[in-house]
Amino acid sequence: IDTDVFLKDKAANNFFVGAAVSTNRLSGKYNELLTTEFNSITAESEMKMRTIFLGPGNYNWTAPDALVNYATENNLNIHGHALVWHVEVPDWMTTFTGTDEEFEQIIEDYIKAVVTRYAGKITSWDVVNEAINDGGGIRNSIFLEKMGSDYIAKCFQWAREADPDALLFYNDYNTPEDLTKQNDVYAMIDELQSNNIPIDGIGLQMHISIDNPTRQQIQVDVDKAIERNLIVHFSELDIRVNPDGRQIVNSLTEERDFAQRLKYKEVVDLYNSIPDSFKYAITVWGIRDPESWIIDQYNRPDWPLLFDDSFDRKSAHIGFLEGL
Ligand code: XIL
Repeated sequence: IDTDVFLKDKAANNFFVGAAVSTNRLSGKYNELLTTEFNSITAESEMKMRTIFLGPGNYNWTAPDALVNYATENNLNIHGHALVWHVEVPDWMTTFTGTDEEFEQIIEDYIKAVVTRYAGKITSWDVVNEAINDGGGIRNSIFLEKMGSDYIAKCFQWAREADPDALLFYNDYNTPEDLTKQNDVYAMIDELQSNNIPIDGIGLQMHISIDNPTRQQIQVDVDKAIERNLIVHFSELDIRVNPDGRQIVNSLTEERDFAQRLKYKEVVDLYNSIPDSFKYAITVWGIRDPESWIIDQYNRPDWPLLFDDSFDRKSAHIGFLEGL
């Protein structure tokens, strides 16, 4: 393995190569790895409502500030994730007894407080995350219930008012594989654009496997984004080697390791072929396999990332480099 070629350098200035990080993993070997292989980070949890949003007008900046300071000191780009997401709703919000108008004002104040605080430091935001259901249709959430179906438009407008320069993304998963979901995501974006709502890009999370989606399925999704003049972020890339439909392996076999290398190469090669003006970043969702959220999410062993538990590069890393 050519150990002096790093991911960020091979991507050169065409796009960032990022990783999801946590504040408790910013020293030692992590720091060395992050600052040599990557030039962008996304907070795995520190920029979500559950961390910051303690109550109406009550914000805890400790964790996000620590991450932003680390990125600034190490000259790393930061992608802000995520202003509004149905999963990380703080407990106090679910028992909110105020009016819908008061709720909407609290959300506006939150979005503007966060985006204003990091304006000039955080260059891009997932303004709304996962607002469309698997199989299509707008996902029900406290935001939809209390703010109405134009809550998505409002969030993008508020983020733009707070930071005229940040790139504003819509972020979601499984749209290459799920064509009804894909259709409704782009229908939603078409409506935003026809109403002159500011949206700059789409994040395709890319939590995928060695078997799915196919390159062609990903290309169809990317083409729809580019047709709409949207910047494309592969925002949470990891590649499962224990996909549905295959016999589960309890170690990273040579066969699955090689399949993963090929899939990383395929995905990165596809991203690399996107016209430069529509590129932003490929962000892998974590550094070392044992830390991957996939293991808990799918409740089975898996090795979805680029580095093993000893921080050594896997074949997946070779595949990533081959795709650049
Ligand atoms: C996940 C984190 O990786 C976990 O550590 C956390 O417990 C839950 O959230 N889509 C997203 C990410 O947009 O924010 C999620 O991250 C994974 C799915």
